[in-house]
Amino acid sequence: MNEEQRLNAGLIKPDLATPDPEQKKEKDYSQYFQTVYTPPSLKKARKRGKEDVKYFDDFEIDERFLGMGKGRKFYIRTYGCQMNEHDTEVMAGIFTALGYEATNSVDDANIILLNTCAIRENAENKVFGELGHLKPLKQRNPDVLIGVCGCMSQEESVVNKILRTYDQVDMIFGTHNIHRLPHIIHEAYMSKEMVIEVWSKEGDIIENLPKVRHGNIKAWVNIMYGCDKFCTYCIVPYTRGKERSRRPEDIIQEVRHLAAKGYQEITLLGQNVNAYGKDFEDVNYRLADLFADLRNIDIPRIRFTTSHPWDFDDELIEVLAKGGNLVEHIHLPVQSGSSAVLKIMGRSYTREKFIELASKIKESIPNVSLTTDIIVGFPNETDEQFEETLTLYEEVGFETAYTYIYSPRDGTPAEKMADNIPMEVKKERLQRLNKLVNEYSAKAMQQFEGQVVEVLVEGESKRNDEVLSGYTRRSKLVNFKAPKSVIGKLVHVKITEAKTWSLDGEFIGVVKQKEVVS
Ligand code: 5AD
Ligand code: SF4
Repeated sequence: MNEEQRLNAGLIKPDLATPDPEQKKEKDYSQYFQTVYTPPSLKKARKRGKEDVKYFDDFEIDERFLGMGKGRKFYIRTYGCQMNEHDTEVMAGIFTALGYEATNSVDDANIILLNTCAIRENAENKVFGELGHLKPLKQRNPDVLIGVCGCMSQEESVVNKILRTYDQVDMIFGTHNIHRLPHIIHEAYMSKEMVIEVWSKEGDIIENLPKVRHGNIKAWVNIMYGCDKFCTYCIVPYTRGKERSRRPEDIIQEVRHLAAKGYQEITLLGQNVNAYGKDFEDVNYRLADLFADLRNIDIPRIRFTTSHPWDFDDELIEVLAKGGNLVEHIHLPVQSGSSAVLKIMGRSYTREKFIELASKIKESIPNVSLTTDIIVGFPNETDEQFEETLTLYEEVGFETAYTYIYSPRDGTPAEKMADNIPMEVKKERLQRLNKLVNEYSAKAMQQFEGQVVEVLVEGESKRNDEVLSGYTRRSKLVNFKAPKSVIGKLVHVKITEAKTWSLDGEFIGVVKQKEVVS
């Protein structure tokens, strides 16, 4: 697109249009574009201090950019965790505020963003594969803008690889500056070069960003950003920066607002939610306090993810035990059942401490469903150490787990550890673990046979549009037949058959409001 076309499309203000090349030389654009390529630095990430996080609650789209997307469509493909899903909702909100329309097809899109995940190598490979698929599209239609954002963009090696190999990419930006999207797109339209805006310094906390939420039944609410745990295998503390908590009043206001709009469930998000509030210098207000306040809001269900066992204190257990809208499901990643492996992973607890914590939670919260994350094949994990993971799984009685083969991540301490365990052995361990996980999931499902459960109906089942599906408070998927009018409501369902990963049941009726919070 040439400058005149951009001007006509409202992408640049008339005073920025410079048809005369001589005039272009003299014009100082620096006030409009503050883009600097600061390569992400793992060394700096480790040295970060407490200072310098600023709060802003006055986000507004610069009026120069309003209407920028008129007649144009955006497409965002999201990889990875709920945090990324939620970032995509924010970016969709910004696109919409700029006048863009959403599309589900890359062929229809004027801007394509890949919101990436860096947690394991296979997550990254999917993104590189997708960039390869997009190349012919870019060749057919050079005006389409392709962007890479999310966690991979924070990695120096990824940025360099894209610069070297993927010239179909027009812009790369990181996790700390998605509020700068309008500027970044603007510059991508203006520039012939790839636009790179990656900040190594973690972002300030910016409230009031626009959001286009996915659906109107369940919503995600960020409570904190970043992670300071530095588990030795994990890239997140580098890609997401240091721990920064949102102010309680902003979170409470957001949840109230969602409740008033009729949302039935919220999930509080953070890489390590148990560290919530640790960074406040002016108040002593932690996750247990936040839960105590959120319990009073008239919204049927509140979940949270993800926890670290280290900060799971008694106050937290106590408030969760009060129930009400705080559901009986806790996702508590253990990673390994061997104290020796946990030590090298930098997890700050032992097998015994974890089991003690799990028992305390189970005693205090009857019917709690505990689920977990496990990594197998950590460098030099022995057969015995792996067996300890299996026995811990049984001892705790997890209801399900996300299981992974260890994947070395660029620049993490574990990446530098020699590893003498062949991939075949790692794969075999994963299979054995998954077999156990399946058995325990099936067992957890069976306890519901014949029982009446409360289900939040999310919509038609993915496999059969005559069947509706939703989740129980303990995160069990339930399929049943009922009128479509109950979508978005809490209903009672009698369970007729338990399967390994889901429950089938018969619809009984809609839950009366006063029954919701018990
Ligand atoms: N390799 C494999 N799994 C990992 N996880 C985090 N980093 C790695 C890695 N390098 C897993 C952990 C974490 C989950 C989100 O991803 O189990 O809890
Ligand atoms: Fe990664 Fe979670 Fe450990 Fe933080 S606590 S470093 S996000 S595994």
